[in-house]
Amino acid sequence: MRRVIPSPKFLFASLDEFRPSLKGRVVTVLASAALAITTAAIAAPSLDVAMGKRLFERNWISAPSSTKSDDGLGPLYDATSCASCHALNPKATSDQESLPPGLVLRLGNGRGETDAVYGAQLQTRGVAGQVPEASPEIGWSDKDGLRVLSVKPAKLGYGPLHRDTRISPRRAPPLNGIGLLSRVPDSEILKNADSEDANHDGVAGHVPWIMKDGKRTLGRFGWKAASPDLPSQIAAAFSRDIGLSTKLRSDAWGDCTVAERACRAGPHGAESGQPEVPDALFDLIAGYVASLPAPQPPKAAPGEKLFAATGCEACHKTLHLADGTPVRAYTDLLLHDMGADLGDAIEEGPGEPWFWRTAPLWDVATSLRLGGLLHDGRARDVAEAIEWHEGEALSARGRFRALPASDRAALVAFVSGL
Ligand code: HEC
Ligand code: HEC
Repeated sequence: MRRVIPSPKFLFASLDEFRPSLKGRVVTVLASAALAITTAAIAAPSLDVAMGKRLFERNWISAPSSTKSDDGLGPLYDATSCASCHALNPKATSDQESLPPGLVLRLGNGRGETDAVYGAQLQTRGVAGQVPEASPEIGWSDKDGLRVLSVKPAKLGYGPLHRDTRISPRRAPPLNGIGLLSRVPDSEILKNADSEDANHDGVAGHVPWIMKDGKRTLGRFGWKAASPDLPSQIAAAFSRDIGLSTKLRSDAWGDCTVAERACRAGPHGAESGQPEVPDALFDLIAGYVASLPAPQPPKAAPGEKLFAATGCEACHKTLHLADGTPVRAYTDLLLHDMGADLGDAIEEGPGEPWFWRTAPLWDVATSLRLGGLLHDGRARDVAEAIEWHEGEALSARGRFRALPASDRAALVAFVSGL
């Protein structure tokens, strides 16, 4: 297979980086306007995945640097690599006081607008010479026995936030198995939609319609299903979280607004109209993320039947791929009204501020070990997560509360092991 690499940037640093895996293979380098590598080995999917993994874990650095293919960080950013927020195989455990991993502070208001000065997200770090947007004070407090996250945007670098701007803290969700969710056919999702609750079961299920390239498309990714596909979500992550441009988001300054002049004028890694992340590297990362294997569901557990009987399955469903393969992620990929207490006062993407995509229930044990459940990690265990379920999930919560203690424990044990 012949692979055309769009920029010499990629060749010099990245071939060095991957030399061990290419050892002993035939690598022909053609020096021409578009450089190309011809190698039989590079066609092997496992090698692509290994390269994607390295790039997922790689720390991007600030421009200008001698290794052109990995610079362009920021100028303002939240983290230097995908892996620093999305720990896929975390050995470490965290204590009850730790903040959820990969926590970002999304900004917006009830009219679907972002902050005129700070943009769509607070970037808490900056490369040398840049003033970070804020150094927020984040901590846990208590609300009627349940844990809540409190966020104060201290040390704001560019004046006050607009008075209508609200902050929505979001934790980085687990990514194992995410490729399966991208392969569920639209029709499989749409058949469960019931936005008017025509069957009067109290559970609606709103279709997360968004516009993409002028076409109505299903939103799938992110806590509010605001991204239609993995490449869009990954390009948004590069832009908002790391400050890098890609083929899908061309601004080298990431989330910086015109009001943040020093950032707009700051050092960028882009060369002659190329994105900071060359297309070939972008595709390798996207391929790697899509290939992450799904966590294995537990063998028949006593709590599984109770999960269905209590009505959790009204939203946390098993969907199917086009060939009938079940996707045991326990999500319908629809949005649900979860009540005011889970709302974040931000309208983002397709739903109201209190609408959330049914969270897939997989890698729950990892999320628990790393700090907590729900979009901002506030729930310390599964029972506490259920306590926050209101709106369309109110009757399921009621049935859960009414179970005998031993059944509640069995249901919680089943979900905690997913
Ligand atoms: C600063 C922390 C941070 C970094 C860095 C980061 N992410 Fe994320 N990621 C998040 C958060 C938070 C969300 C949830 C976003 C939301 O709901 O809006 C997310 C969501 C996602 C999702 C969607 C998951 C789902 O269940 O829908 C994917 C896929 C993803 N990130 C991939 C990546 C990749 C690839 C990179 C590197 C290019 C990356 N992320 C970098 C924090 C981060
Ligand atoms: C009306 C739909 C609906 C019903 C019914 C429902 N859930 Fe949920 N569930 C959601 C949504 C939406 C979220 C994401 C909410 C958020 O993050 O703010 C969620 C989140 C969760 C989470 C946190 C997952 C994570 O990774 O953060 C757990 C655990 C959970 N639900 C368990 C249950 C159980 C157990 C039941 C049955 C007692 C149940 N749910 C019933 C919609 C529902």
